[in-house]
Amino acid sequence: MAKISVIGLGYVGIHVAVSFGKYFSTIGYDINKKRINELKKNIDTNGELSSDYIIKSKKLKFSNSETDIKNSDYYIITVPTPIDENNVPDLKLVEEACKLVSKFLKKKDIVIFESTFYPGCTENDCVPILEKYSKLKYKIDFTCAYSPERINPGDKKRKFKNINKIVGASDKFTLNKVAAIYQKIIIPKIFKTSSIAIAEASKIIENTQRDLNIALMNEFSIIFSKLNIDTKEVIKAASTKWNFNKYYPGMVGGHCIGVDPYYLAFKSKKVGYNPKLILKGREINENVSKFVFQKVKILAKKNRLNLEKAKTLILGVTFKKNCGDIRNSKVFDLIDIFKKKSMFIKFYDPYLRNKINKYKRNHLLNISKSNYFDIIILSVDHDFFLKKGIRQILKYGHKNSIFFDINGSFKGIDSTNKL
Ligand SMILES: NC(=O)c1ccc[n+]([C@@H]2O[C@H](COP(=O)([O-])OP(=O)(O)OC[C@H]3O[C@@H](n4cnc5c(N)ncnc54)[C@H](O)[C@@H]3O)[C@@H](O)[C@H]2O)c1
Repeated sequence: MAKISVIGLGYVGIHVAVSFGKYFSTIGYDINKKRINELKKNIDTNGELSSDYIIKSKKLKFSNSETDIKNSDYYIITVPTPIDENNVPDLKLVEEACKLVSKFLKKKDIVIFESTFYPGCTENDCVPILEKYSKLKYKIDFTCAYSPERINPGDKKRKFKNINKIVGASDKFTLNKVAAIYQKIIIPKIFKTSSIAIAEASKIIENTQRDLNIALMNEFSIIFSKLNIDTKEVIKAASTKWNFNKYYPGMVGGHCIGVDPYYLAFKSKKVGYNPKLILKGREINENVSKFVFQKVKILAKKNRLNLEKAKTLILGVTFKKNCGDIRNSKVFDLIDIFKKKSMFIKFYDPYLRNKINKYKRNHLLNISKSNYFDIIILSVDHDFFLKKGIRQILKYGHKNSIFFDINGSFKGIDSTNKL
C-alpha cells in the first residue's frame, strides 16, 4: 500500500491529509508545532473539520518531525503561495517544502503540488529545486503532478469529496497513477489534463475570472451610485437574459481571488505581455473600501451627522461569509480609513479565528450596547448576522444612525446604503 505525505496542513492540506488517511498510510506534516499538537488532539482550529471527522482517518498520523515523511511514494505539497508587498509571487514556502521533500526523494517517487501556481511554476521553479537537492533526475528518477485545489472554506454544501478535481502530470503513467489515488477520495471522475501547465493555468483563470467579474460589478456599482440606481436590482433584471452572468459587487479579500491574478500577471509580464485588464480589475477591487467610505461620508452629510465624532460599528471582519479567516480581509482597509481619520470605531465578528493583535483592542467580544453607535456597517453577511435580523442590528444604533449594508443582504435597503 502506498505511503502519502502531505506537506502543509492549512485550509487545503488538512482536507487532503484527512481524506487520504482513510485509505492510505498518510503523514500529515506541518512546520507549525502548535498546529500539529492541536491536530493530534483532533482539533482543527480553522473550523473546517470536526473532531469526529478527523478521528475517522485511521491511517493518518500528524507529525512535526521531518523524518516521518521518509519512505513516502507520494509527496503532496499544500503550502501557501502569497504575494509580497509589491504584489509579486513569493515562493519561499514552496521552495522550502521542495527542499524538504528533496531530502527524502527516491527513485519512482511522485511529487504532487496542490498550491496555486502560475503556469510553468511546477516544472520551471520547483523541479530544479527537487533535482538540485535530491541529485535525482526529473522524468527519469522521479516525476511530478499538479492538482489544483478548489475547496471553499466556510461552505458546508460543497464538500471536498464532491468537488471536481483536475490532475496534470509529467507523463501518462504518472497521470494515471495520481488520478487513481485521487479517485479513491473524490466522487466525481478525475479530470485529466494533457500537461501540468494546463492544470496550473486552469486554476489561475478560475480565480482571475471571478476577480474580474466582481471588479466589473464594483465598477457598475460606482456608476450606478452616481446615477442613484440600485445595482442589485439592475443585476436581477439583467439576469433574466440567458447569457448574463450573475456576480455581485463586494470586497475581494483572502489569499486566493485577491492574490492569484497577480500570479498570472507576473508570469504574463515575464513572457512579454502586460495584462492590463487583469491588473485594472485588481486595482478596482483593491479600492472598494475607499468607495464604501465615500458612500458612508455622503450618507453622514445627508443625515447631518458629524463624521469626525461619530461612533462606528463594523459587523464582520473576516475575508468572507461564514469563514473565520481574516487574512487579507479588505474590511481592515475600511477600518484603517476610519482610524486614520481618528474616528471612533469598533468591530464585532463571532466567526473570527485568527489572532488580531493590533486590532484586538477595538474588538467587541459581544455587542450589548444598544442606542450607542451612529454608524453601523454590515461588512460581512455571516449567517449569524442574517439570523439576528435587521431589527436587532439596528438596536445598536439610534433613530438617526446610518446603516450601511455593503452586500445589500437585507431586503428593502436603499441603493445609497449598499454597494
Ligand atoms: N484556503 C483556500 O481556500 C484555498 C483554496 C484553494 C487553493 N488554495 C491554495 O492552497 C495553498 C495552501 O493554502 P492554505 O489556505 O491551505 O494555506 P494555510 O496558510 O491555511 O496553511 C498552510 C500551512 O502550511 C504550513 N507550512 C508552511 N510552510 C511549510 C513548510 N515548508 N513545510 C510544512 N508546512 C508548511 C503552515 O504552517 C500552514 O499550516 C495556497 O497555494 C492557496 O492559494 C487555498
